[in-house]
Amino acid sequence: MSTEKIYVIMTSTFTLPPGPSTSPMLQSKEWIDRPIDFWEDCLQQYGEFFTVQLGSLGSVIVISNPEAARQVFALSPKLFECHQYNEHYKYVMGENSVLVQDGERHKQQRKLLVPPLQVDRLKIYAEKICQITRQITDKWTSEKPFSVRLSMHELSLKVILDIVFGSSEVTLKQQIIGLFSSQIFQDLGSWSPWARFGKLHPLFRKMIAAAINKRRENFDPNCTDIFNLLVSMDTLSDAEIQDHIFTFYIAGVDTVALGLSWALYWIHQTPEIRQKIRQELNSLPPDAEPMAITKLPYLTATCQEVLRMYPVVSTPIGRKLTAPVQIMDYNFEPGITLLPCTYLVHHREDIYPNPHSFQPERFLSRQYAPYEYFPFGGGNRLCIGAGLAPMELKLVLATILSRFEFISANEGEVKPVRHGTMLAPSDNMKLQIIHREY
Ligand code: HEM
Repeated sequence: MSTEKIYVIMTSTFTLPPGPSTSPMLQSKEWIDRPIDFWEDCLQQYGEFFTVQLGSLGSVIVISNPEAARQVFALSPKLFECHQYNEHYKYVMGENSVLVQDGERHKQQRKLLVPPLQVDRLKIYAEKICQITRQITDKWTSEKPFSVRLSMHELSLKVILDIVFGSSEVTLKQQIIGLFSSQIFQDLGSWSPWARFGKLHPLFRKMIAAAINKRRENFDPNCTDIFNLLVSMDTLSDAEIQDHIFTFYIAGVDTVALGLSWALYWIHQTPEIRQKIRQELNSLPPDAEPMAITKLPYLTATCQEVLRMYPVVSTPIGRKLTAPVQIMDYNFEPGITLLPCTYLVHHREDIYPNPHSFQPERFLSRQYAPYEYFPFGGGNRLCIGAGLAPMELKLVLATILSRFEFISANEGEVKPVRHGTMLAPSDNMKLQIIHREY
């Protein structure tokens, strides 16, 4: 098979790490069809830096050395761009989405979108998350094994709609939820929900445009929801506001839904873990605030371990270099994409002994550096939901586990499968209710 390729550009010579020599088309297909096995096979064969050829991106350097990951996250945003790696998001989020911006525009958009999801705002969302979880799980019956994934998508959609639109826009929220349940969440196969979401874009745009006009006409400066914040910005066009809302749906709904599905899977693989979480929840006073739940150590460690095992998003966004960059002993030229691999770093035996075993305790006995554990990426592209998502995972799990007892009813081995750019548990993951508190 392949391997070391020597490139000579102008006067400088540089060597790319080794990697498969199969055609770029075949490598892209492998990456899509075998999202984890492809990374693991390459690691085995070529080591902690390898080069793959992915579609129009060209040479992508996949990195599982933590020090190199640290150096990539620390790169100045002047040295790379992300819009090429995220090109496909344009079709579902729109061309103004923060995910497809670089440079000054990206910085400005983050200044707008990050504050509404920062710690001081999270308290406001916490009670609502518990309420929505109760509403959705009220519909669960105890008759036969069921797939939790669909419920988790519905739940995280409702949470995002509430965070974006606050308590108003009741009709708009109902219409959106209706469209999702009747047309988008039909099956959750690899790319289908996103394709259906893309097809419904014109309709969503029309509905949100009408709501923007209504808000502008009856503008209330005291309203603090994200929609009001966006509408209040004179500099934003209607299309930009719509694209920011689409970005919240796509980035914030599936990721959390899959994190929750994985959490319920792992918790029900090991009865002792479930028991320890229950004991912790029982130790709280009955009138405990939701924020007290988010501070529980074992529940927190369990959610961290969930995102270590299958980080939902198996890599951060690839950084395509616009200038020469040195990472450890490698000199990389412009045009090369650097991709720290979350999944591979999270499974390094030297950092996480027995890495394929689910052990929340590892997060109680050790603190991991942000380049050893990075489910939310890092640097200037760090996930803007990095505070909200862990809180949502803990509150939803705590609400579910205090009301229901399940047994695992998986039909065969549950495997990580692709859901868009994410890692989902396969559809045969099922739970069966054996007891519920009313
Ligand atoms: C378990 C849940 C989640 C996971 C695992 C996750 C993971 C990630 C990752 C890995 C990135 C790329 C970071 C990088 O390249 O360095 C990212 C970016 C992003 N995430 Fe999340 N995310 C989650 C939830 C959310 C939520 C709830 C929201 C919004 C409400 C959100 C909004 C975004 C946005 C807008 C970006 C792009 C940031 C930028 O390009 O500057 N995510 N996320």
